[in-house]
Amino acid sequence: MTPNTLTLTRPDDWHIHLRDGEAMQAIVGHTARQFARAIIMPNLKPPVTTVALAQAYRGRIEQALSACGISKTSFTPLMTLYLTDNTEPDEIKRAGETEDVVALKLYPAGATTNSDAGVTDLLGKCSKVLEMMQRVGMPLLMHGEVTDPETDVFDREALFIDRVMIPLRKSFPELKVVFEHLTTKDGVDYVREAAGPIAATITAQHLLYNRNEIFKGGIRPHFYCLPILKREVHRQALVEAATSDSPRFFLGSDSAPHAKGLKENACGCAGCYTAVHALELYATAFERANKIERLEAFASFRGPDFYGLPRNKGVITLTREPYVVPLEVPYGSETLVPLAAGETLPWRMV
Ligand code: NCD
Ligand code: ZN
Repeated sequence: MTPNTLTLTRPDDWHIHLRDGEAMQAIVGHTARQFARAIIMPNLKPPVTTVALAQAYRGRIEQALSACGISKTSFTPLMTLYLTDNTEPDEIKRAGETEDVVALKLYPAGATTNSDAGVTDLLGKCSKVLEMMQRVGMPLLMHGEVTDPETDVFDREALFIDRVMIPLRKSFPELKVVFEHLTTKDGVDYVREAAGPIAATITAQHLLYNRNEIFKGGIRPHFYCLPILKREVHRQALVEAATSDSPRFFLGSDSAPHAKGLKENACGCAGCYTAVHALELYATAFERANKIERLEAFASFRGPDFYGLPRNKGVITLTREPYVVPLEVPYGSETLVPLAAGETLPWRMV
């Protein structure tokens, strides 16, 4: 019999977009209510490229939390730097010497939202920085998609493995790598088998939906994110990986807020908003796979184990009661439409 309540060690979100200013103020509480820690993506405008900018951004996050009545001790933002062609090895050294920056994020230039300042040629332009990262034990979080416009949007992740991931890891075998928001069976197979320190985050939308969801009855922009949803065979491989006992797959929601008007648009932005109900969504996916008992390892253990951080103390509870996803949530002067808006999910966080 499946249980009606589920108690988990407090989970963490290893990939989140909190934005800045009034947008951040509107949403930061969602993540802080569900998770004890989160890896904060640095793709602001301008991007967070230095330790000083990351420290200042963390200060603004803490202020926004305190304005929502959330104490510093109940939620910890884990800061990252945005890698560019011009990042200096000294900046990595500085990052390694503080506790304030936990990783660097690779956006291949042009791959996704706010990636214009991203890297044009990883091994060509960043090898000194990669060497320093390997030396100080700083993980590289990779948006794993090739960006040449000739490549089919559904093939970009699979090609990235051969063109970037394998050569990178051959040159820097000790570099810690996270293949972010994995979306393909090719990615799952690679991460599961590869030698050395590698792991992957998986989003709720890629566990719950295949690419048909974007086109059901018309074009549905709230199911559009990057990397884009893939075929069913890929979704199944991701579910299998997330619910397996491999230590290499863990939770990263990639919750990426965009105002409703910028999603429901002739050229809609990429990103699904899942921060308000991340655990409800993941619990739904694990339950559908008949593996709800594996949710704790995925959400609460494997992430900190990979990053070399302690597991959280304390617990949260999920209960098997219907949760209706809000149709919209406030977002500064605008609103956001969460993923699966209006649908009823089988679990809710207490
Ligand atoms: C993200 C965003 O909006 O910042 N969008 C997305 O579709 N996931 C960027 C990213 O992580 O690719
Ligand atoms: Zn992201």
